[in-house]
Formats: sequence, structure tokens, C-alpha cells
Amino acid sequence: MDILEALNERHSVRQFKDIPIEAEKVEKLNGLIAAANEESGLNFQLITNEPQAFDVFLAHYGKFKNAVNYIALVGDKNIADLDEKCGYYGEKIVLEAQTMGLNTCWVAGTYSKKKSGISLNAGEKIVCVIAIGYGENQGVEHKSKPTEKLVKADLNAAPDWFKAGVDAALKAPTALNQQKFVITLEGDEAKITTKGGAMTKLDLGIVKYNFEVGSGRVPL
Ligand SMILES: Cc1cc2nc3c(=O)[nH]c(=O)nc-3n(C[C@H](O)[C@H](O)[C@H](O)COP(=O)(O)O)c2cc1C
Repeated sequence: MDILEALNERHSVRQFKDIPIEAEKVEKLNGLIAAANEESGLNFQLITNEPQAFDVFLAHYGKFKNAVNYIALVGDKNIADLDEKCGYYGEKIVLEAQTMGLNTCWVAGTYSKKKSGISLNAGEKIVCVIAIGYGENQGVEHKSKPTEKLVKADLNAAPDWFKAGVDAALKAPTALNQQKFVITLEGDEAKITTKGGAMTKLDLGIVKYNFEVGSGRVPL
């Protein structure tokens, strides 16, 4: 499975099988995380076999099961565009994980930061986590807002790369499936902005990465 196939097949999965992620896959994930940290200056961490973070009322309420592995998206509070960077690099790892046969769910609310095993250096914060493991199911495709609400461009006249980018962006996970972004075509370039609000900067980074995978172009 390549990254674009992974993008098309990824859906949030909240119930995991009670089986560990094999050592070689843990190693591969750690390598991907190390590369992302190196490039971004972030401090993502993979935490495995840790049942506490998702052993809280909200997580059970949110139907999480056997969520004992997660990637903590951590970074220094002073990093410019911290949330957007976490979204971008987090989604990169999510799609790689999907190619490895693993399932994921972005989680900002329904877990306990306190009970987690995440270690923070001075000045750092946890932006969110990504639950990861072997899903009991493959999740379901989310409903998308009508394209006219998310895209400011004449799609009939737009170039193929733009259409492919839009298609991929609409498949991106966003908090509460809020899809508070707008994609515009400005000359020969795509621009993605957010309408603002909780978690929208995190969503923006995720959506930008998906657009890049779909179109082969980096949006502004
Ligand atoms: C930044 C972010 C935070 C999220 N937080 C939670 C959460 O706290 N609990 C939860 O069950 N799902 C959470 N989700 C998952 C979204 O509900 C899900 O991505 C969205 O409904 C779209 O569905 P899909 O991922 O299957 O495409 C979050 C997603 C994102 C991108």
C-alpha cells in the first residue's frame, strides 16, 4: 500500500485488538518519529503498552477499547505554529502507520494527560495524542461538507493536481469532523486557510499534508 492508498483507506478506529505492535514495527515507527522530530524540532514520543491514559470515563464514553499504544505529539510552547506543525507531522506518521497495517485515531479530548506516561522537558506541552494499534475494524468514511463550502475555485476549470489535492484534503481527519478550512486556487498555487476556532490549527496541518500527498504540491 502506498501513501495515497493509505490516505484513502484511513478512517478513525477507536477499538483495538488486544495484541501488541510487533517489535520491528515499533522500531520502524520510532524511526519515523525520530526523523519527524529531527526535521521539525518537535518531541513526538511513541508510548506502548500503557493502559492508563485511556482508562478514564471520557475514553470509555468515546468508545475506546484496548487503546494502550499512542503517539504523544509534544513540542516546545515557543515553536512558531506548534499546532499546525503537530498536525502536519502527525498525519505523515498516521499515513505511514496505515501502510504498515496499523489503525489510528487522533485524540485531543478523550484521554488523560495526567495518567499518561508522557515525559515533558521544561517549556514543552502535549498538543494531543494519536491512538495506534490493530483495529477491530477499519472505521468508516466520514461525511464531508459540500465541496462548495470548502473550496473557493471553479473546479471544472481547475488543474488536475488541484482537484486531486482537494479530494485528498476532504478525506483528512479534523476534530469533531469540523472541516473548518478553505482551499483556494491563486494563480498556479493552492492556499489553505482556517476559519479559526478550537483545534483548527492542528486540523490545518493535517489537511495541508493530505493536500500535498494528493496533489504532489505544497500548498501555501
Ligand atoms: C485534532 C483532532 C482531535 C480529535 N480528538 C478526538 C477525541 O478527543 N476523541 C475522539 O473520539 N475522536 C477525536 N478525533 C477524531 C475525529 O472525530 C475524526 O477524525 C473525524 O470525525 C473524522 O473521521 P475520520 O477520522 O474517520 O475521517 C480527533 C481528530 C482530530 C483531527
